[in-house]
Amino acid sequence: MRRCRPGRPLPAFLRATVIAGALSALALAVACSKQPGGDAPPANKRLVVGFSQIGAESGWRTANTKSIKDEAEKRGVDLRFSDAQGDQENQVRALRSFIQQQVDVIAVAPKTEEGWQEVLEEAQRAGIPVILTDRLVRVDDDSLYVTFIGSDFVEEGRRAGQWLADQTGGTAVIAELQGTPGAAPTIDRKKGFEEIVARHPGMTIVKSQSGNFERSKGKEVCEAFMRSPEGPQITALYAHNDDMALGAIQAIAAAGRRPGEDVLVVSIDGVRDAFQAMLDGTLNCTVECNPLLGPQLFDTIEAVRRGERVPKRILTTEGVYDRSQVTAETLASRQY
Ligand code: AHR
Repeated sequence: MRRCRPGRPLPAFLRATVIAGALSALALAVACSKQPGGDAPPANKRLVVGFSQIGAESGWRTANTKSIKDEAEKRGVDLRFSDAQGDQENQVRALRSFIQQQVDVIAVAPKTEEGWQEVLEEAQRAGIPVILTDRLVRVDDDSLYVTFIGSDFVEEGRRAGQWLADQTGGTAVIAELQGTPGAAPTIDRKKGFEEIVARHPGMTIVKSQSGNFERSKGKEVCEAFMRSPEGPQITALYAHNDDMALGAIQAIAAAGRRPGEDVLVVSIDGVRDAFQAMLDGTLNCTVECNPLLGPQLFDTIEAVRRGERVPKRILTTEGVYDRSQVTAETLASRQY
C-alpha cells in the first residue's frame, strides 16, 4: 500500500488558495444536503415539538393521538400537545402559541384545507419548520410546509367504490355519508368514489350529506336517509369513515332493513370496532387508513432537524378488508 509522505511545506499564497477552495467545497456540500431552515441542534438539546390535533371525533383520531404521544415519549421529545376540540380557530391559536414558545418544529393535522396561509407564513418568518400530518392544506406557496405525511384519500375513495362495483356487478342505489365539510379526506374520498361510480351506469348516488366523521351524526343523518322517499330503494351505504358507518348500521336496522345484507355497508379507516362489525356481519368492507403515524412523523422531524432533505409527500401503506377475510384472529391482531 502506498503511503503519503510529508512533503515540502507549500508557499503561503498557495496554502491560502487551498484552504479557501476546501472551505467553499465544504460550504457547497452543506448547502446541497441541508433543508432550508433546518440547523442541526446541539446533541444534548431536547427536541421541542408543538403538535396541533383536530380533536377526538372518531376512533381513528384517538388512535392517531395515542400513536403520536407514545412515540414522543419513547424518544424523549418534549411534546407540546394541543387538542382543538373540533375547532379550526383553536388550531390557528395553538400554532401562534407554538411560534411564541419558539418550539423547534410544528406538526399539525389541519381540520379543513382552507385558512392556513397567514399562520404558516408567520411560522416561516419565525424560522420554524411545519410538518402537515394526516390532512393537506391549500396555500399559495407549498414552501410554507416541509412535507405532508398521510394517506392518499382519493385512492381510498376509489378502493371503496371499486369494492362496491365488484360486489354488485356495477348496480347499486347508494347513500353517502360525507366527512367534515371542507376537510381533505371528505373532498378526496368523495372524488375517488365518484370516479368509479361514473364508470358504472347502474350505480347512482341518491343521497349525500355530511355526518361530520362522528358516529352519532352518522346515525342521525342515515335515519333521515331511511325515512326519505328514496329510503326503501337504497341498496348500499358508503361512509367516509367507520364511525359514521357504525352509526348508520344502527339506523338501517332500526328502519327494518338488514345492514350488511339488504343494504351493503362500505367505509374507510379500519378501526377495531369496524372489524367487530364485520365479524357480526353488519359491515361489509373497510378500506384501511392508517392512523399510526407517530413513528413516521418523528423520523421525519428528526431528519428535518438534522438538516436533511425529506420528500414533499410521505405516503402510508394501506389495505382493503372484506368481511369474508375477517376472523377473530384478525380482530385480535388489530393495533387500533
Ligand atoms: O383525516 C382522517 C379522517 O379523520 C379519518 O378517516 C376519520 O375517521 C377522522 O376523523
